[in-house]
Amino acid sequence: MARKDFLDIASLTREEVDHLLDQATPFKELFTRSVKKVPALKGKSVLTLFYEPSTRTHSSFEVAAKRLSADVIDLDVPHSSAVKGETVKDTVDTLQAMRADYIVVRHKMSGLPQAIARQTKASVINAGDGAHAHPTQALLDAFTLKEVFPSPAGKKVLIVGDILHSRVARSTSNLFLKLGVEVGFLGPGSLVPKLGPAGITRFTDFEEALKWGPDVVYLLRVQMERQDVPSFPGLQEYHRVYGVTQERFKQIQGEGTYIMHPGPVNRGVELCHEVMDYEHSLINQQVENGIAARMAVLYWLKPGTSEGEPQHETD
Ligand code: CP
Repeated sequence: MARKDFLDIASLTREEVDHLLDQATPFKELFTRSVKKVPALKGKSVLTLFYEPSTRTHSSFEVAAKRLSADVIDLDVPHSSAVKGETVKDTVDTLQAMRADYIVVRHKMSGLPQAIARQTKASVINAGDGAHAHPTQALLDAFTLKEVFPSPAGKKVLIVGDILHSRVARSTSNLFLKLGVEVGFLGPGSLVPKLGPAGITRFTDFEEALKWGPDVVYLLRVQMERQDVPSFPGLQEYHRVYGVTQERFKQIQGEGTYIMHPGPVNRGVELCHEVMDYEHSLINQQVENGIAARMAVLYWLKPGTSEGEPQHETD
């Protein structure tokens, strides 16, 4: 079973998650070969449409599409007609006329990829919408977790930081829970939502959270751009209370706990410099796995070929 679009984690079944994670493995194996390309999407076009900044997601979609032999068209949003006031809907209509098969979109507005998916026959992939979802980040996170813990059910992952504003926290915790992982949230009370999926343990004190015995500490970037009113006194204070300080790093290192972070990292805020060179830091592995995970998504989706085609169709 394949889908037209990849918009969130919540709507994926466990079987679909397992299929995508299994599919990412042979794509990652390609990276070690001298020829890293396969012809799977030859003749298809992938359009990337990023209305928000991105390094990892944007470039890894481009690499993923090229390794599948697709043609990649990157719409340079800051130099596009968007700055002349063209709406996203009109931009998508224009691009639709160019018959892109896949549209990869990032936008600050939650729900926009869903709206585009209804508008176009192309497969739409959500590369991050507001504080709502970042499903390919979740997929690469789960793939990375499984490389360390092939049977992740029962493992504990502590997600630390600004959970309220984080699309990464929402999608990744959702996917980890689907895999049977125990999830903990740690952050300032105002940044940890009271409501959410069942089965999440909430902490406001880092030392208490470490006593819980996490196998992985997953640090979130502090997103100043999504906070209208700052929720903590300052970045130094944030580091002292919710960061992996040198002292906490010693404890984490002693336990052999793994560290994850979606990037970009604010050194000296979420973590001290030493964490970047820690042998159990999975941060670079996450970036590498982003390509394989996104290849799996592109390969799995089935763009529509006619008006009104249903979202789901069989392989
Ligand atoms: N993790 C992530 O989404 O990073 P970018 O903003 O660099 O794409």
